[in-house]
Amino acid sequence: MSSTFFIPAVNIMGIDCLDEAMVAIRNYGFRKALIVTDAGLAKAGVAGMISEKLAMQDIDSVIFDGAKPNPSIDNVEKGLAQLQRSACDFVVSLGGGSPHDCAKGIALCATNGGHISDYEGVDRSTKPQLPLIAINTTAGTASEMTRFCIITDEQRHVKMAIVDRNVTPLLSVNDPALMVAMPKGLTAATGMDALTHAIEAYVSTAANPITDACALKAITMISQNLRQAVHDGSDLVARENMAYAQFLAGMAFNNASLGFVHAMAHQLGGFYDLPHGVCNAVLLPHVQSFNAMVCAGRLTDVAHALGADIRGFSPEEGAQAAISAIRGLARDVEIPNGLRELGAKLTDIPVLAANALKDACGLTNPRTADQRQIEEIFRSAF
Ligand SMILES: [Fe+2]
Repeated sequence: MSSTFFIPAVNIMGIDCLDEAMVAIRNYGFRKALIVTDAGLAKAGVAGMISEKLAMQDIDSVIFDGAKPNPSIDNVEKGLAQLQRSACDFVVSLGGGSPHDCAKGIALCATNGGHISDYEGVDRSTKPQLPLIAINTTAGTASEMTRFCIITDEQRHVKMAIVDRNVTPLLSVNDPALMVAMPKGLTAATGMDALTHAIEAYVSTAANPITDACALKAITMISQNLRQAVHDGSDLVARENMAYAQFLAGMAFNNASLGFVHAMAHQLGGFYDLPHGVCNAVLLPHVQSFNAMVCAGRLTDVAHALGADIRGFSPEEGAQAAISAIRGLARDVEIPNGLRELGAKLTDIPVLAANALKDACGLTNPRTADQRQIEEIFRSAF
């Protein structure tokens, strides 16, 4: 089987790496940035701080702070209009997954034209996007380094999965000093998202030895650091380890893709406007229970990477140990118990399941499923 490995050309990471990244940005020779961020980071002055650092490198910028959680088509269109009005020649995304995804949509449409929904699916664009520099503040969706862009179509109540090599950022920046302000709930949710990336990539039908190595290391680092990052957000060692771990998980899923956890979580997020990481964390053990009959050996590796003692276990027992360890970690970081707690309704399950089956992320799930089986997984997660 052949495989292509996608990752940004340059990736700068580690405590206080932001200044080094600014010099790298200057060396690209760009003149004016559209900084795409969310209202919270703009209000907290983080976007202004980035704008000032760019000015120190003689680079102009304008701030677009309209990337909402679960960014919408409208967010992309407003940002694109501002980019065109201000004649920016590159985009800087600042934040977690939402600003990065919104910025990818803006940068892709800026060069390819058309409407963001034209690019739903795999590699639908023809031209490279406007150069995108992604400065990450969570750990993490890994959107700062992937070719995945998720935009909500508010009219259809669905999240569009745009999987396109052209949305890969030019440069990713992961400075843990920008992550210490993340509240506990966001730290937990984004960390569980990263764990889901690693596990779905590891059991994916498109996994290869490179993605396997990235996934297993990510799982181990998350199991060793997420609790501490949630418990004490100012612990820079735990924050830095989580930044590396989420990046490794990104390397894994950017190339091995995902599975039904993401295909289903996208629908919950699009339908009820729920946080992506929390939806994943709730669904993860239920989807892996469904998968266990076809990938028990792989789930046993996951259990081992999560720190479970699997000596003498059969593959079936190993898979159960993985599922228990996932539940234990989710409980320790105070993820809600089930979909009911998140406000989902049993009567919506048929439409959620039908949409999940159309999501490109489900194509590499190790076990195929029909409408009835996806509905059953949703019910089990209530
Ligand atoms: Fe995710």
